Amino acid sequence: MNTHRTSTLVLGGTGKTGRRVVERLQARGLPVRVGSRAGEPPFDWEDRSTWEPALEGVGSVYLTYYPDLAVPGAVEAVHELAALAVRSGAPRIALLSGRGEPEAGRGEEAVRATGAELTVLRSTWFMQNFSEDYMLEHVLAGEIRLPGGDVPTPFLDIDDLADVAVAALTDDRQPGRLYELTGPHSLTFADAAAVISAASGRTVRYVPVTLEQHAAGLREHGVPGEVVELLTYLFGEVVDGRNADTTDGVREALGREPRDFASYAAGAVAAGAWNAVPSTSR
Ligand SMILES: NC(=O)c1ccc[n+]([C@@H]2O[C@H](COP(=O)([O-])OP(=O)(O)OC[C@H]3O[C@@H](n4cnc5c(N)ncnc54)[C@H](OP(=O)(O)O)[C@@H]3O)[C@@H](O)[C@H]2O)c1
Repeated sequence: MNTHRTSTLVLGGTGKTGRRVVERLQARGLPVRVGSRAGEPPFDWEDRSTWEPALEGVGSVYLTYYPDLAVPGAVEAVHELAALAVRSGAPRIALLSGRGEPEAGRGEEAVRATGAELTVLRSTWFMQNFSEDYMLEHVLAGEIRLPGGDVPTPFLDIDDLADVAVAALTDDRQPGRLYELTGPHSLTFADAAAVISAASGRTVRYVPVTLEQHAAGLREHGVPGEVVELLTYLFGEVVDGRNADTTDGVREALGREPRDFASYAAGAVAAGAWNAVPSTSR
């Protein structure tokens, strides 16, 4: 069997959403190439010479940019990568984008302009940020200290996002679609802390801080300047109430309801996500 053109390159294939997309494609017996700096061949956004070899023999791409489509140079990079993918025989692209971020919108346009068979997955904040990313340390320390005010966010379970990505990559009816993806309910950070406390048995509370206090705290803990800037942008731009409403994106794409925060928290507890003791770095 010639599978030469059927492989999917999953960028960020070792990351939160990419890993889940890889698992799902492999479970279907579909050929996958894990896009990673440690991949075979390696893929590195910072080294354009790695892009062409990574695309060789590939027919579709799950495109996630790291760290965020909002950082300088991201729009140009995703445009160039997508154009190369289209030229090298991988026109089908599922792009992970950020909801309510003007820069992410420009990234979507840049990829669309290449003529790719594009599905846009425009996602709100991930539930898994509380268990697999920077908010994990906050949960373990018992205090979620963030500049989120009392604005509700319709957090998305990235198991749903990965299901939508796989549909986008494998279903011929998907290209051209744009999905706004959220969970089924909007929760404030205080609500999220309460659900995590109830599920885990830990005492976790939300402590609202200002953008300036948050940035100062990050700098004190040695977080690099560009990461501080990115998080300040995201909290200032995305968590301001404009993106508080839920959407039908998961139902449109999959014909079922999205998973809710309580199910996510129960799953995270079962997986031992919040068993560790806190580290001092935060
Ligand atoms: N977190 C959210 O709530 C959220 C919401 C909406 C959209 N998004 C978007 O999701 C995307 C990914 O963010 P994430 O926070 O979920 O991160 P992530 O995918 O978990 O990030 C880690 C991945 O990035 C890869 N990576 C890091 N540096 C790289 C480089 N120089 N070249 C190639 N790959 C590199 C890592 O691969 P290796 O280390 O193996 O090389 C790893 O697979 C971003 O564009 C973000 O805007 C995130």
